[in-house]
Parts: sequence; structure tokens; C-alpha cells
Amino acid sequence: MNLLEVRDLEVTYPSGAAAVRGVDLALASGEKLGIAGESGCGKSTLALALLRLLPAGTRVGGEILLDGEDVLAMKWGRVRAVRWAGASIVFQGAMHSLNAVHRVGDQIAEPILLHRRATPAGARKKTGELLEQVGLPAARADAYPHELSGGQRQRVMIAMALACDPRLVIADEPTTALDVMIQAQILRLIERLVSEQDLGLLMISHDLAVLADTCDRLAVMYAGRVVEEGPARQVYEDARHPYGRALSEAFPRIGDPASRFAPRGLAGDPPDPSAVPSGCAFHPRCPVALDLCGTRDQFLRDAGPRRRAACVHLDARAGAPEAETTEDDVRSSTP
Ligand SMILES: Nc1ncnc2c1ncn2[C@@H]1O[C@H](COP(=O)(O)OP(=O)(O)OP(=O)(O)O)[C@@H](O)[C@H]1O
Ligand code: SF4
Ligand SMILES: [Mg+2]
Repeated sequence: MNLLEVRDLEVTYPSGAAAVRGVDLALASGEKLGIAGESGCGKSTLALALLRLLPAGTRVGGEILLDGEDVLAMKWGRVRAVRWAGASIVFQGAMHSLNAVHRVGDQIAEPILLHRRATPAGARKKTGELLEQVGLPAARADAYPHELSGGQRQRVMIAMALACDPRLVIADEPTTALDVMIQAQILRLIERLVSEQDLGLLMISHDLAVLADTCDRLAVMYAGRVVEEGPARQVYEDARHPYGRALSEAFPRIGDPASRFAPRGLAGDPPDPSAVPSGCAFHPRCPVALDLCGTRDQFLRDAGPRRRAACVHLDARAGAPEAETTEDDVRSSTP
């Protein structure tokens, strides 16, 4: 059984923004899955939906199975327990997630006391062990967040995420705010902890290069959908979908926050989720769009061994009659 299975997930915010539109994903224990895509493609919405952290009034459809248990059908008490012991999230920007007026040790110990029903002495001991696991001396438990560097604070966030021995760690842009050296250290730390403890890792980033380096498999999101997925290196080096290709052709600019807004060579922005274009949502920006792309929706289908993508050109490659692609159909350059 997969550790995580997401089936036909749909998320619509109260504003009407359809931020996730029919996502299927699966993750085995010990596996590292990367989710890539430009700003606004629905990556964080997907992560928040997995642990039911979305704002009240948000409509969520489909199924989320964590260790076979349907997260969307859980009672709130069970959801709270699952948020620490089943799966936990490491967010970007540790300074904003940590409470400035409490010592970091107390913040790590809190879920251990609450969810593990540990004694104060037991929680303190576990906190020291967790800090050492993430490469900080146990004595740093007494520090306040402002007394730590950005990298150290992110290590504290990772220690906190591991506090109740979760089976799945969701890391949403865990290193984007850090400089290149610290970013590499944190990525190696996450990789090591995940493989030592046989956890599942769902890592979100706009940076395909970082994900290709860290993850086993990669899913590329565009306008709330997964448009391509497969073995991480293959997707990065030889994307099947024009959007995946545009992302991977973007210069790997680790630590450059401006790069999240548009990959190099691709004009425009992802669509507003309240007004997603008809047909293939990528068609207004696609350099190889056909006339039919504006009306015909595209869904993931086989694109090679263990690979899937959602593009009409795949049918042409396979010689399927459905697309009937000709040279004249291509509006501009070929892929
Ligand atoms: N609370 C909300 N209410 C309404 N719309 C929202 C809300 N949160 C996010 N959105 C919209 O949903 C879309 C997806 O947002 P999301 O945060 O999931 O994107 P993302 O891929 O994580 O982007 P980034 O790389 O910038 O973090 C965006 O268009 C965003 O404006
Ligand atoms: S289906 Fe058409 S618009 Fe969409 S990615 Fe493929 S060629 Fe481009
Ligand atoms: Mg995000």
C-alpha cells in the first residue's frame, strides 16, 4: 500500500479560485516526490489540502489516503493527531513560523508533550536528541528564534516536523529563503533524515534543478494540474511536456527569488485560477500550441516507461489518430 495516495483532488477557495483541479499522486514510504511549478500553480494549496489546513469555506473534493486512511473523512481530533504523527509540514521562512517569544526547545517539546503524552523530562530529552539529529547542539534548545541564523532556524523547523515521528514529511519551499551554501546543507539534511528513517518526502519548489537533485520522482504542476510526472532526472533532462521543458530550460538559479515568477524564455504568467483558459490551460503561452489546444482539454497519459504527461503532441508521437497533428497546425516553433 502507498503511504500517500491522492485521487482526483480538487480545491476551490471561497473566492472561486480553482487552485487544484483534479490531481492524482502516489508516494511510497521511503520515496521522495518533488512538486515543481511557477508561483501560483497550486503547489502550496495541494500541500495544505493534504493536512486539511485550508481556510474555512474552501471546497475540497476527491480523496486523500494517508496510510490507507481517508484524511478528508477524518474527525477533527484524528486530523490533529495525524498532523504531527502521520505527516508534518516544513514551511518556507522559519522566522515567521516560529514563535518569537518562546525558546525553540519549548516549541519543539510542545507537540511531544501533547501528542506523545511524554513527561516534561522525556520531552526535554527527545528535544535534545532531535536538535542533534539536525546538526545543532542540544543546548541550543534554550535559544530564542532571534538568537539563531536563518539556516539554524530552518533546522529547528525540521526538528519540530520530526518531533512525533511522522511517516510523511511535506517540505514547502524549505530552502528558498536561504543562501546557496545553507540551502545545500539543509537539502542534504532532509535527504539524510528521510532515508535513515524511511519516511516519505513530498518536496515543493519552483526550482526543478533542486528537486531533480533531491527527489526520486518529479511532478510538474501548471494551473492546478499535474501536467507531467516521472523519474526526477528524466523529467529534468528530457521533459515531455512543453511547460516542463520551459521550466527545465530555465537557468538553475538556486536562491534567486525572482526566478519563481517566470522561467527564462517563457513569456506571461500562469492563469488566474478563477479564469483558467479552456482546452489545455497552457495554450496561451505554449510555443508549440495547435489550434485544437484552445478547445481540447488534456489529461495525463503514458509518455514512456514510468512517465506521464498531458500534451496533444504525445498522441502525434505515438501515431494516435486523435490528434491528427500536421506541421501546419503548429503555430510557431516545434519542440
Ligand atoms: N486563501 C486563498 N484564497 C484565495 N485564493 C488563494 C488563496 N491561497 C492561494 N490562492 C490562489 O490559489 C492559487 C495557487 O496558490 P498557491 O499558494 O497554491 O501557489 P504556489 O504554487 O504554492 O505558489 P508559490 O510558488 O508562490 O508559493 C494562486 O492563484 C493564489 O492566488
Ligand atoms: S496540449 Fe497544446 S497547448 Fe498544451 S502543452 Fe501540448 S501543445 Fe502546448
Ligand atoms: Mg507556495
